[in-house]
Amino acid sequence: MIAFLNGQYLAKDRVCISPDDRGFLFADGLYEVVRFYHNRPFRLREHRQRLENGARELRFNRCEFPEFDEVLMNLIEKNQLKRVESAIVYFQVTRGAAPRSHRFPPPETPLTVYAFAREFFSAVEEQENGAGAILVEDDRWGHCDLKTIALLPNTLAHQKARDAGAVEALFVRQGLVQEGTHSNVAVVKGGVFYTPPLTRHVLPGITRQAVIELCREADIEVRETAISKNFLLEADEVMIIGTTVEITPIVRIDGKLIGSGRPGRLTQKLQAAFFRLTHNM
Ligand code: PDD
Repeated sequence: MIAFLNGQYLAKDRVCISPDDRGFLFADGLYEVVRFYHNRPFRLREHRQRLENGARELRFNRCEFPEFDEVLMNLIEKNQLKRVESAIVYFQVTRGAAPRSHRFPPPETPLTVYAFAREFFSAVEEQENGAGAILVEDDRWGHCDLKTIALLPNTLAHQKARDAGAVEALFVRQGLVQEGTHSNVAVVKGGVFYTPPLTRHVLPGITRQAVIELCREADIEVRETAISKNFLLEADEVMIIGTTVEITPIVRIDGKLIGSGRPGRLTQKLQAAFFRLTHNM
C-alpha cells in the first residue's frame, strides 16, 4: 500500500512518524475520511473545508490544505483503486513534532500530514436488514463539532456496542441523543425526518447534510431539533448516517425493537436516493 507523508508517497510500512509528534503525544490533530465511488470523490470540497475550519479552531499554524484534493486522487491512483466500486481515503494533520510541552511548538514547526487509501465495502447485510445500537452517556469533550483524532471515548463506546452485538453506540447528553461514535443519527416519526441540530456536541456530518438535501428533494419534512431518549425509542424509524455506514437502519436499541423491527419505508427510500446520488456523480 502506498501512503502519503509530508509531501512524499511511499510504501505504508516505510512511513516513520516521530515519537515527538503531537498527534502521538497529545492527540493534537484532525482527520477526514472521504469516500470514493467508482473513482469519484463524494463531496471533496466539503471535507476539505471542514478540515480547514478545524485547523483554524485549533489554531494550527497552517489552515489551508490546497494539496488535499490532489493527494486523495493520487492515492486512489497509486493504490490501483480507480476501478473498484468504493474506496476511502484517510487524511490526518497534526500540529507536528516538537519536544513534549503543553505550549504550542514554535510557529515554524511543520504540520504532519499523513494519508492512506484502501478499498472499502459497505456492510450490505446491515444496510438491508438493519442493525442494533446501544445508548451510552456522552462523556466526550465540549468540541465534538471538530473532527479531532482524540477518539478514545468513541472507541470505548463503540467496542461496548460491538460486545453487546450492536453496530453503534449513540451518545446521550442530559437526556438528549447527539450522534453515534462514528456516525450521525436521525429518526423518522409521522413521516417527518428529525435529526439533532448542529451544536458543539455533534459533528457536522457531510453525509448528514447530503441526506437532508435528499429529504428536501423528496418533499420529506426535515426538523433539526433536539431528540430525547424517549422520542428516539418511540420513533417509527431510526438510522445512522455517515461516510462509512452511509444510511444504516437501526432496528433495535438496547434490545428494544424500533417500529416493526425492520428497516422503515422512509429509510429505504433515502437509501435508494443516496445510492443514486453517489453512483451517478
Ligand atoms: N466518522 N459523527 C462522528 C463522531 C463521526 O466520527 C463521523 C464520521 C460522523 C459522520 O460524518 P461524515 O458524514 O462526514 O462521515 C458523525 C468517520 C467516517 C470515521 O471516524 O471513520
